[in-house]
Amino acid sequence: MGTTLFRKTRGHLKEPKFLENRILLSVQLYNPKPELTNEIINAAVFLAKERGSVYNCSNNLAACRNARRLADNKGGSMGRDVIIACDFNSKAEVIGFLEKFKEEKPFVKIGMELFYAEGPEIVRTVKGMGHKIFLDLKLHDIPNTVKKSMAVLSGLDVDMCNVHASGTKAMMQAALEGLTRPDGTRPLLIAVTQLTSTSEAVMQEELWIDRPIDKTVMHYAQNTMEAGLDGVVCSPLEAGKVHEACGGGFLTITPGVRFADGDVGDQKRVTTPAGAKELGSDYIVVGRPITQAKDPVAAYRRCVDEFVD
Ligand code: C5P
Repeated sequence: MGTTLFRKTRGHLKEPKFLENRILLSVQLYNPKPELTNEIINAAVFLAKERGSVYNCSNNLAACRNARRLADNKGGSMGRDVIIACDFNSKAEVIGFLEKFKEEKPFVKIGMELFYAEGPEIVRTVKGMGHKIFLDLKLHDIPNTVKKSMAVLSGLDVDMCNVHASGTKAMMQAALEGLTRPDGTRPLLIAVTQLTSTSEAVMQEELWIDRPIDKTVMHYAQNTMEAGLDGVVCSPLEAGKVHEACGGGFLTITPGVRFADGDVGDQKRVTTPAGAKELGSDYIVVGRPITQAKDPVAAYRRCVDEFVD
């Protein structure tokens, strides 16, 4: 199917080469139209998932970036995962919580509350315990300030961090530049489109964004992709549409996850880990269903069973 799709989209699949036990396929993109580019990326995603290949897409920067990231995921460093939102406000509580995990090292989200309470040291400590970290600080300022702040964060060795897409494409590009280390490596960078706490009425009447909220979210997702970022935070219910608009390689990081038999709490539009998988989420962010569970390790494993395995 993948190869046919490449032909249909006027992409050209070159002779495969072997590279460190994986196949390197070069993809020449002849048609720069965004919708065709997305189809080609989707085809690359399909083939990569099927064969564990590395792709090299020429002529299109976004396609190259997505393909390379996808190849990296296949290499085992990143990929579909459950991220635990460690919404505690002290180092002692976080460490006490993470020490319950003896056999696995969950991906951890550190948000503003914990970061402001404990400072960068909390990131070093959790990283030192062997966890991947999503540093959720949602930067939003003038491009120069965001670039310099991201350069500081890049020294913390986190795995994922974020900005507000409403800060503009120029700000997102500046964030990307700041985050990229001299050796070319960087954490994943994603953007918040519209906060889920903002209703359509507030967005239109208070922020004067005179469009439907779902269209605004999709537009911001496209801006994020065009700025070269890796993905967006969105509802699992929007993951499919985001992939349609921005390509299968563009990441969707989705909070709002609850077990079928669990408490919804203050979240409104929720789905189960299995539902999020079906809807195409790449990462789920789960807080209270794990942190407040009687047995957090069992709750985490249930999420992994439903979402990853
Ligand atoms: O406890 P719960 O599973 O609701 O936690 C979800 C986490 O995801 C929290 O840290 C929350 O701040 C975050 N989040 C969210 N909705 C967004 C963005 C982030 O729930 N749109």
